[in-house]
Amino acid sequence: MVVFRVFRWEKGMDGEKSGKGEGKGRYDVFQLEEKEGMTVLEALFAIKEELDGTLAFRYSCRGAVCGSCAVLINGFPRLACRTQVREVMGGGRVVALDVRGPLALPRVRKTEPGEVLVEPLPGFKVIKDLVVDIKGFFNAYREITPWFRDGAPGEGESRMSQRERERVEPYTNCILCGLCYSACPVQKRDPEFLGPASLAKAWRFISDPRFKERDKAEILEKVDSPRGVWGCDTVYMCTDVCPKKVPPTQGITSIRRQLLKNSIKKILGGGKR
Ligand code: SF4
Ligand code: FES
Repeated sequence: MVVFRVFRWEKGMDGEKSGKGEGKGRYDVFQLEEKEGMTVLEALFAIKEELDGTLAFRYSCRGAVCGSCAVLINGFPRLACRTQVREVMGGGRVVALDVRGPLALPRVRKTEPGEVLVEPLPGFKVIKDLVVDIKGFFNAYREITPWFRDGAPGEGESRMSQRERERVEPYTNCILCGLCYSACPVQKRDPEFLGPASLAKAWRFISDPRFKERDKAEILEKVDSPRGVWGCDTVYMCTDVCPKKVPPTQGITSIRRQLLKNSIKKILGGGKR
């Protein structure tokens, strides 16, 4: 048997929930038989169908494609549909992220063997149980306007070399799950920060040779601020938690390099931004 300790909160319960998985709200304990290959998402379905129909969680594709099922599992941001129960039921010391000021300190917790702790993603306001409000995340994403203008990449046929495609590809794999946003220490102390996923997507377009220079300049201007690439602490937590191996920190440092290059060119009078 596996014991699931699941965070519960709903409107009307004591106080507002910040999504840190402690304080207000409560933890309900459910026991399930562990089956080979069972994912945490399947366990949540079993709880909902067999033990407590009021449990709220978000999902869609069940195949690590839509990014909807992001939660905190044993203190670590993960996709519930991509995490097998067997992988996380071993018990032991669990290091979670506890953000204080500019630092994300490790918070050590213990889970007993055969126990799995499921909580809402930190950094988001809880709507109910494991469902969080992702408005802020998508607003920041929209703000950098990550799309080709005029509906087409350019005049006539657009071509990319194999090398150019390989440079852009890791950044196209983002599924907008928000795990990086929840792990980011900057995001927690400054909700205005555009965040790792948005900045990674900004680099995806800036580094795409099919994107027009005028549009690149527009995105560069949007991220050239403490809310953008200059706010990043470069601690790689976003890169660590990303289930799709998107490297947001690398994208952010590449944009910084590009901005510096542009500034130098401008000072030397050799080019425009
Ligand atoms: S960069 Fe990775 S962790 Fe962040 S939203 Fe995209 S897929 Fe999720
Ligand atoms: S349900 Fe779509 S990523 Fe998990």
